[in-house]
Amino acid sequence: MCGIVGYIGSKKATPFLLEGLTCLEYRGYDSAGIATIEDNKIEVKKDKGRVKNLYDLDGIDSLVGTVGIAHTRWATHGKPSKDNSHPHLDNSGTFSVVHNGIIENHNELRNFLISKGYSFASQTDTEVIPNLIHYYFNNGENIGDNKFLSAVKQAVSDLKGSYAIVVMSPLFKDELIVARKDSPLVIGTSNGENFIASDIPALLSHSKNFYLLDDNEFAVVCKDKIKFYDINLTEHRKGIKNIEWDATETGKNGFEDYMLKEIFEQPNSIRETIGSRLKLGENCYFDDLEISEEFLHNINQIYIVACGTAMHAGLIGKTILENLCKIPTTVEIASEFRYRNPLIDEKTLCIYISQSGETADTIAALKLAKSKGATTIAISNVISSSITREADYSIYTHAGPEIAVASTKAYTSQVVLIAILAIHFAEILNSYEQEKLEALKADILDLPSKIENILADTSKIKNFADKVYTEKDMFFLGRGIDYAVALEGSLKLKEISYIHSEAYAAGELKHGPIALIENNVTVIGIITEPDLVDKTCSNLQEVITRGAKTLIVTNMQLENNCFDFVIDIPEINHLLSPILSVVPLQLLSYYISKNKGLDVDKPRNLAKSVTVE
Ligand code: M6R
Repeated sequence: MCGIVGYIGSKKATPFLLEGLTCLEYRGYDSAGIATIEDNKIEVKKDKGRVKNLYDLDGIDSLVGTVGIAHTRWATHGKPSKDNSHPHLDNSGTFSVVHNGIIENHNELRNFLISKGYSFASQTDTEVIPNLIHYYFNNGENIGDNKFLSAVKQAVSDLKGSYAIVVMSPLFKDELIVARKDSPLVIGTSNGENFIASDIPALLSHSKNFYLLDDNEFAVVCKDKIKFYDINLTEHRKGIKNIEWDATETGKNGFEDYMLKEIFEQPNSIRETIGSRLKLGENCYFDDLEISEEFLHNINQIYIVACGTAMHAGLIGKTILENLCKIPTTVEIASEFRYRNPLIDEKTLCIYISQSGETADTIAALKLAKSKGATTIAISNVISSSITREADYSIYTHAGPEIAVASTKAYTSQVVLIAILAIHFAEILNSYEQEKLEALKADILDLPSKIENILADTSKIKNFADKVYTEKDMFFLGRGIDYAVALEGSLKLKEISYIHSEAYAAGELKHGPIALIENNVTVIGIITEPDLVDKTCSNLQEVITRGAKTLIVTNMQLENNCFDFVIDIPEINHLLSPILSVVPLQLLSYYISKNKGLDVDKPRNLAKSVTVE
């Protein structure tokens, strides 16, 4: 949830640290801070608010140190304030730490440290870490020949929960120590300087060569070498990964906001997702998915597990998998699944969807299924993210970096990828007519141009946004696959416009929620299910009768059209219609948010990557 960066080299650390924090700000943005080593002591500059505030802090320009760490925070323990901002120091000012994650036993550790004479300046869980390091530095045993590393190892051995940390000390000003468990951390390497960050895009303009730290692994990072250690501090060699992403992919490319850019990138991101996996007249192909035919034929059930938007992609995936493969498929929210002892055995396939690949609940749910013998597939957008390293098989959306907190292109790519996966399984299982599979493939290949078509004229959606942006409540209705899109449209609206909204299966409305419908309230209907058009229209008629104004997203010719606004989208096989019908809803929430003058890319209280429970 927080973003951390570190630098060690021969240049001033501050410019890189500030730039790195700006890239990582999507991970948390309620406070920020940096620390560098200046004249053999640690100098800290931090405050509540956005990273840009750091540029104006007194004395920031005088920092000339060539070693530094920095942090942008999404508060968990302790409200956003200067004291609670990272970096944190131990009482003696010898060790400084930035941390992403949650220390679950921080109260216990705090009491232990207080009993040893330590005091605390913040309400954070993190502040125990530098003090524990100090404690073990002076009172611990010496494991190996690096006393600094030994103290860090003993401190993190006491931690329960999740952490990615970077530790700096003026006693060891030629090295930074990093460690991780269940929170991401990467090291970018270059000639005579090394960079540390929570994710790869933050480092792309400095390096293409990365080390991806594993759980329970430590690294001692110097300017011209990096040493890796396991949990017992036994040194080992680690392979380097070359990442081909282009740094310009992470810029705004002339768009006002990342979210808008990412909405408009969808034709291309979908092309990338399709890649060489799907071609007309050939079976679909996944190069990294060697699931045996025998296992596929014997699957007793599929679970799709994810959070938020990724879970909504899973709901579409369920419909496609059940239609094409005839295997019972259940979609579960990861935070529920992980604690409810689901019925899983070695004939169960569990698919985990996560754009970031770092969502704590999704990772925990994956570990649970593996422990019960299931076969697991991760669907992620981030190469070598934690979830892909845990799963038996990983397939990537290749949608390119998604920076806006509200997910758009990752969602459509997730749905496309599951559709291709379902076709691939159906081809092996022979569970769906070949001719229909070919037609579906042709429709998938047509998706990019159909989205281009929707994006070519956004004026209608913009006009509607102009009319409704001051409203307090909105409703989204749909049946079948359209209900899943209603859920996603409603989540987008809540997330970035702060308008209260509810999504209902249209037929469920009269069982209670219709009591909320009053004069002039906005109801948005999605109508693409050919067999359910009349039924959804009747449900919408019920809200019109009660005074609602309606916006409809449809690819149908609606008879007796009595709706206030209709957005027509191109026709397509109804199993794929969510990939088109969601686009006007993404745009609607975007324009509403802009009209309200909100920060579209960084909505309040949220963070892009939810690496805590
Ligand atoms: O990185 P993930 O796909 O695992 O993230 C899951 C959710 O946190 C995410 O989809 C969230 O709901 C988005 N902010 C929605 O726009």
